[in-house]
Amino acid sequence: MKKGFIFDLDGVITDTAKYHFIAWRDLGTEIGVDVDLKFNEQLKGISRMDSLDRILAHGGKENDFTLDQKEALAAKKNTHYVELLQSLTPADLLPGVKEFLDQASTKGVPCAIASASKNAPFILEKLGVKDQFAGIVDPATLHKGKPDPEIFIKAAELLNIQPEEAVGFEDAQAGIDGIKACNMYAVGVLSGEPLHGADLTCHELTELNMDELLQK
Ligand code: BG6
Ligand code: MG
Repeated sequence: MKKGFIFDLDGVITDTAKYHFIAWRDLGTEIGVDVDLKFNEQLKGISRMDSLDRILAHGGKENDFTLDQKEALAAKKNTHYVELLQSLTPADLLPGVKEFLDQASTKGVPCAIASASKNAPFILEKLGVKDQFAGIVDPATLHKGKPDPEIFIKAAELLNIQPEEAVGFEDAQAGIDGIKACNMYAVGVLSGEPLHGADLTCHELTELNMDELLQK
């Protein structure tokens, strides 16, 4: 019997993945690195700085910038990303998310957010669902990012349950790998690329039966 739900944010609760892509693509153009949609898949679930490192390595520019310059580039990307987020409203919740959270609340099943994004509280506020989460892991407190399971273990702790008592929802391979590494049940939310190792996959949360999930 499962006792809690743990959600990734970008690509699961809302489609901010497209705004991350636009912001990285434009930064890439500025520094002469081509960030296309296929390469962008490798940035999903990965922290801001790690994403920049992957982009620089992708363009063979890993030794071209000092740490200060890299921090300035990451900040520039984030400023653009946050500009793109200003127009977010509750209408930007992905299909079935609001209904799923409401149903979990009715059943007394607590929910938490396990996202690498430092913008998560702001995004949840804009979407009007922040109060529906009993906990949001602060990614600044993590030693390792996804695919390390640390963020999912912390999210379970916030809900006062064991990782194996939770169901984790993820759209990124790094996230599915992190969920499985702590023996959590993994639901993969598909948006194009296949996800390996998920216990169950769906295209949107409307396809899921909560009672069946809680029995897993
Ligand atoms: C993850 C996204 O949720 O958050 C990544 O999938 C992103 O693409 C990461 O890089 C960090 O986000 P932020 O908002 O802190 O730059
Ligand atoms: Mg995601």
